Amino acid sequence: MVLDIIKCRRSIRRFLDKPIPLEVLQALLEAARWAPSGSNSQPWAFVVVQEQANINKVKMFSPGLQGVPPALLVLCSDRSVGDSTAIMDLSMAAQNIMLTATDKGLGACPIRGFNQKALQTLLKLPSHVQPELIITLGYPAKPARIPSRRPIEDIVHWEEYGGNSGGK
Ligand SMILES: Cc1cc2nc3c(=O)[nH]c(=O)nc-3n(C[C@H](O)[C@H](O)[C@H](O)COP(=O)(O)O)c2cc1C
Repeated sequence: MVLDIIKCRRSIRRFLDKPIPLEVLQALLEAARWAPSGSNSQPWAFVVVQEQANINKVKMFSPGLQGVPPALLVLCSDRSVGDSTAIMDLSMAAQNIMLTATDKGLGACPIRGFNQKALQTLLKLPSHVQPELIITLGYPAKPARIPSRRPIEDIVHWEEYGGNSGGK
């Protein structure tokens, strides 16, 4: 069930030294391609980084990136296509990627803690293509701790803010 995959996805930050098969990476990219986007504008570009030397360079200016993943995806907005919904669109693609990764036994972690300008230069991105999120990918080295979530009654409001009719 989709909810089971959603609930067992975790941010994984320690990876086995084991490559990811190409067809698995392709499935993740296909999942990204089918994400919804505002007016179906698809304002995105995805850069796959697998060479360890390049991953090490990315790590040099990404304090948020822990561990040594065998691959990472850099999710970029393409501002020449559209920018009013680009961040939301990329977030949809990111979740598609991470849920598909979970379904395939991979671990993933979204990373925002990186220097955008440095990554732009390293990946030779044109100025209208901006790196917004890194997703690290790899087989988990160990099971992740399950983080807490706010209780549902704290975050859900029925009919109006503060409403607690419980949907009845
Ligand atoms: C937009 C965004 C940015 C994030 N940036 C980082 C990051 O830079 N480094 C990191 O280790 N985790 C990062 N995370 C992962 C969160 O820490 C993680 O999702 C949160 O602790 C909940 O854990 P879970 O993903 O296992 O449910 C980010 C998550 C999101 C959604």
